[in-house]
Amino acid sequence: MYRILSKEMLSPAICRMRVHAPRVAASAHPGQFLIVRVDEHGERIPLTISDFDPVEGSVTIVTQKIGASTKEICALEEGEFFEDVVGPLGLPSDFVDKTDDELKASRYIFIAGGVGTAPVYPQVKYLKSRGAYVDVIIGAKTADLLIYKDEMSALCDHLYICTDDGSEGFKGMVTGLLEKVVLEDGNNYTQAVAIGPMIMMKFATLTARKLGLPIVVSLNTLMVDGTGMCGACRVTVAGKTRFACVEGPEFNGYDVDFDEAMRRQGMFRNEEIEEDHKCKIR
Ligand code: NAD
Ligand code: FES
Repeated sequence: MYRILSKEMLSPAICRMRVHAPRVAASAHPGQFLIVRVDEHGERIPLTISDFDPVEGSVTIVTQKIGASTKEICALEEGEFFEDVVGPLGLPSDFVDKTDDELKASRYIFIAGGVGTAPVYPQVKYLKSRGAYVDVIIGAKTADLLIYKDEMSALCDHLYICTDDGSEGFKGMVTGLLEKVVLEDGNNYTQAVAIGPMIMMKFATLTARKLGLPIVVSLNTLMVDGTGMCGACRVTVAGKTRFACVEGPEFNGYDVDFDEAMRRQGMFRNEEIEEDHKCKIR
């Protein structure tokens, strides 16, 4: 059993929890994910690790209520327990293998969309601790859905904010702001990383290609059981079939067949809506 050390709501539908899971925290790296189960009958839910503290033995997870199981997670309170927390799973971000000299010479721009902002945090924290230059773009539909603003601005070199409706920061999507930051403000980056909805990662990749910027994307959002067994996270990368949960979740954005990935995601979303509907009827 894994105790919830703290819980807070970042917005009405997004909760952040610090969970006591010492073995996971001791070996976690940025870019990895874990699987939780609320109780012994619960569904296995893959969630990206949003922070980890090996000294305290805790991991932080951020969950958006979008289906029956994520609502169950967000209904748990501080002092209650998860039945299982399994991880860390997946491969760490590729920069953990870079030398200090390589990282000190690199200039990263992170493109974080909505709740996808949470897994960006441990990556920025790690890169800053090793001397890299890091700017971050956070995008959300409206100002009240922006998360991790304070945490990110305390860490990164420059934080850029955008909202679809212009209620805070640049009015428009992350791709428009990325173009502005590079073309109008004259920032040079050596690497982009995009984490957020699949459609955002597709268009961030198209924009990065236009700007001549290498880009890594995180395909966590495809996962269902996270074990390499169910096949839900199959995705074509550079013409080859890959399983995001065991061979990813991060891939070179230029190589990802986003349209196929979005079709696959659509199939599972329909099942989730049905399941949520059944729960309301019960
Ligand atoms: P959202 O729909 O509010 O989108 C966030 C931002 O993405 C928007 O404000 C916009 O700037 C950008 N965006 C959206 N569509 C775009 C487009 N067509 N072109 C350019 N930019 C676009 O995000 P949300 O409602 O918070 O949803 C978050 C999604 O992120 C969920 O689907 C969740 O599964 C996913 N997610 C992904 C990861 C990951 O590792 N990739 C991790 C956590 C969550
Ligand atoms: Fe099931 Fe990857 S999520 S095989």
